[in-house]
Amino acid sequence: MAEDKQLSGIRKVVIAGTGSYLPEQILTNHDLAKIVDTTDEWIQTRTGIRERRRAADGEVTSELAAHASRRALEAAGVTPEEVQLIVVATITPDMMFPSTSCIVQDRIGATNAFCFDLEAACSGFQYALDVAQRYIATGDVEIALVIGAEKLSTFLDWNDRATCVLFGDGAGAAVLRPADDGQRGFIGSVMGSDGSLAGLLGIPGGGTALPPSIESLQRGDHFLKMEGREVFKQAVRCMSDAAGRVLEKCGLTIADVKWIIPHQANMRIMTAIAERLDVPIERFYLNVHRYGNMSAASVPVALDEAARDGSLESGDLVLFVVFGGGFTWGATVLEW
Ligand code: UT7
Repeated sequence: MAEDKQLSGIRKVVIAGTGSYLPEQILTNHDLAKIVDTTDEWIQTRTGIRERRRAADGEVTSELAAHASRRALEAAGVTPEEVQLIVVATITPDMMFPSTSCIVQDRIGATNAFCFDLEAACSGFQYALDVAQRYIATGDVEIALVIGAEKLSTFLDWNDRATCVLFGDGAGAAVLRPADDGQRGFIGSVMGSDGSLAGLLGIPGGGTALPPSIESLQRGDHFLKMEGREVFKQAVRCMSDAAGRVLEKCGLTIADVKWIIPHQANMRIMTAIAERLDVPIERFYLNVHRYGNMSAASVPVALDEAARDGSLESGDLVLFVVFGGGFTWGATVLEW
């Protein structure tokens, strides 16, 4: 098998443990039909979503992240003090700054880590994994904690049926360390971005472009906006292409991959990708029906569930494929 050029000659990196956390409150489609003009039937047929989680008032992103992190550290048999790097992927930070990763560091007692947030919207966890594993591959870091955490419910317009039914809150985390002899771990990745389409998906207000003001609050600039139909088309195209490109780069075919863990935005997007890759949908690990789209948290939560329910076995090849605002997209292959 061809090696990832960027990684040849340096250390291999594995995921040593995963964890996730979903807030207690479940919002079903029927609950939403009481708030906006929608139906369970519309949401299920158009998206595959049945329910999603909603964090409690005051339960902030760093708290979701800390719960998931503690579980990942326990699964990996690593103490918080051993963690040298924390990367949090999020579009719903606790605040503009300091970074959510620094707040997570304090919450879990990872006193020896350096910390930063990474923003690549729904692609964030895959981007963060990629960055963190390179720190380990080069020998600069021994143990890294990579987290995808979102409290999207804060940024949803609960009067907009086109967006509020799609998203949920949650967090997932993975502990990375150097591979033991014979372990392959991360094999390769590809990533891409297209800023010319930035306006199709995002939270426009609250930054330097549209600073907070009474008018911006009244306009709802601080809520998530999406041109769903156009985003859908781009998501299918970019995720299918990224999956194909990473397999080619690694000298693999889709038949070599046991599990595809995609960003979970819409069941119809995943079905379309499965058709394009000519692979049965059963090889996709799916949880969109239970959690909706959790942005950067979708992939790590699915990964943790696949690890804990026995779907993933040692030696399985796993393909992550993601797409999100920016636009950003990417795919990673690793051996579990
Ligand atoms: O995570 C980052 C990536 N995000 C995504 O990948 C999301 C991509 N987009 C999508 O998943 C889909 O485009 C949506 C699920 C957002 C929308 O599905 P769609 O099949 O593209 O529907 P649409 O936007 O074309 O809307 C069809 C109709 C419209 O009514 P008219 O204009 O045909 O009368 C909407 O007003 O459905 C209406 N509609 C709804 N009806 C009932 C939109 N939202 C709802 C709703 N309940 N919640």
